[in-house]
Amino acid sequence: MGHKKAGYVPALGWDILTPLYDPLVRLTTRELTFKGRLLDEAGIGDTARILDVGCGTGTLLLLMRHKLKSLLAIGLDGDMNVLAIARSKADRRKEKIALIQAFCFDMPFAECAFDRVFSSLMLHHLTRSEKIRTLEEIFRVLRPGGELHVADWGQPHNLLMRILAFTVCLGDSFARTADNIQGRLPALFLNTGFEKVSETARFATLFGTLSLYKARKPITAVDQRHAGSIAVQSLAGV
Ligand SMILES: C[S@@+](CC[C@H](N)C(=O)[O-])C[C@H]1O[C@@H](n2cnc3c(N)ncnc32)[C@H](O)[C@@H]1O
Repeated sequence: MGHKKAGYVPALGWDILTPLYDPLVRLTTRELTFKGRLLDEAGIGDTARILDVGCGTGTLLLLMRHKLKSLLAIGLDGDMNVLAIARSKADRRKEKIALIQAFCFDMPFAECAFDRVFSSLMLHHLTRSEKIRTLEEIFRVLRPGGELHVADWGQPHNLLMRILAFTVCLGDSFARTADNIQGRLPALFLNTGFEKVSETARFATLFGTLSLYKARKPITAVDQRHAGSIAVQSLAGV
């Protein structure tokens, strides 16, 4: 079982394994395929304000910046060690990304600050109550009509995936992965207040089924009245 630090579990459970994260994920999860699809589904434009929660080594942020050069892309992660890897990757590629060390269930951002929030392979690190607090935070920082795009372990879609998923449950704890593996993430999104929740794709990987989900923060009557002013708010609170 991964080593829970104060507030987060490191990318591969223990700090000593973090440098192996990129090669392992690339070899075992069809990483560029599923992250590319996640980005395509978000349909982001050049001026979008993007947050990647649990950004890890920054691969998703760098893919975004490669596609859309003027994007405002911010990565948040609890782990300084993994952020150092993300920073050196960005520097090597001369890409501008902002990286912030903070916990996903207590984010230092203003309300409605983002058009899209991404989370890849992060929610399964959290307990049920941390998942709920994190989704509430994501809901708060998204603008009305903004979208959440998630890639994470999902309900196994055949016997082989069920057997392979056992490794993830063993490594990342049965308790923390249960909502993922039992297909309960969409219900958690709906309970937070998101609408148009759907599972959009499933990928077979060496660690079981990896699912993509999307969900939208509703544009309520009140939000619509203020949508113009919210849209032009800067990220001053970020
Ligand atoms: C498996 S890695 C995924 C990294 C990256 N998103 C990806 O798709 O490759 C999970 C990341 O979530 C971060 N994390 C775990 N719990 C967290 C928390 N409570 N707050 C912020 N980050 C957290 C870990 O530090 C780790 O970098």
